[in-house]
Amino acid sequence: MIKIGVIISGRGSNLQAIIDAVELGKIPAQVAVVISNNPKAYGLEWAKKHNIPTKVYEPKKFPDKNTYELEIVKTLRAHQVDLVCLAGYMRIVGEPLLQQYFGKMINIHPALLPSFPGLHSQKQALDYGAKVSGVTVHFVDEGCDTGPIILQTAVPVMQDDTEETLSARILEQEHKLYPEAIKLFAEGKLKIEGRKVKIL
Ligand code: GAR
Repeated sequence: MIKIGVIISGRGSNLQAIIDAVELGKIPAQVAVVISNNPKAYGLEWAKKHNIPTKVYEPKKFPDKNTYELEIVKTLRAHQVDLVCLAGYMRIVGEPLLQQYFGKMINIHPALLPSFPGLHSQKQALDYGAKVSGVTVHFVDEGCDTGPIILQTAVPVMQDDTEETLSARILEQEHKLYPEAIKLFAEGKLKIEGRKVKIL
């Protein structure tokens, strides 16, 4: 059974999907700690309801990004976390987290990477006129949504979609794909080979 640390910034619906999958016994894992950079993140409430320890670290309360991240690393280590899941964490990860957790830190992104990285990916897909977008779960590297891809699901873009309707259709798939990727990691079935992830 592996220990997961989840880092969030907001609503936390992917966190909920992970907790649900764990509680239903679909993933051989335990959510050991939930960390947020935003004290108002709703996901913190959800974690508390499930008796999961939470920590809030606000970047502005630290002298620099390194000190901020070192505090996060300290907490993850204190909870003996094996896998870090970024779930709607809206910051680019820096050196301290990468040094400690490269190959053990994954992220979910609401588009088919490498298309539409960064913020507002659903709006980017709509504005571009893409007919298909989707979800990507990938290992985190030093870039913005550039790490080796673990799993992807395609989601159609409808002609009359708004950012809200497309986001909702994509989110439904996110909630299925993230637990699936975590399960593969927990079972030791993911092997990074350069840019590629082999599923064993
Ligand atoms: C999700 O759609 C996630 O894919 C996205 O933020 C949302 C968070 O929702 N992440 C990114 O855009 C990261 N670049 P949630 O807080 O309800 O899980």
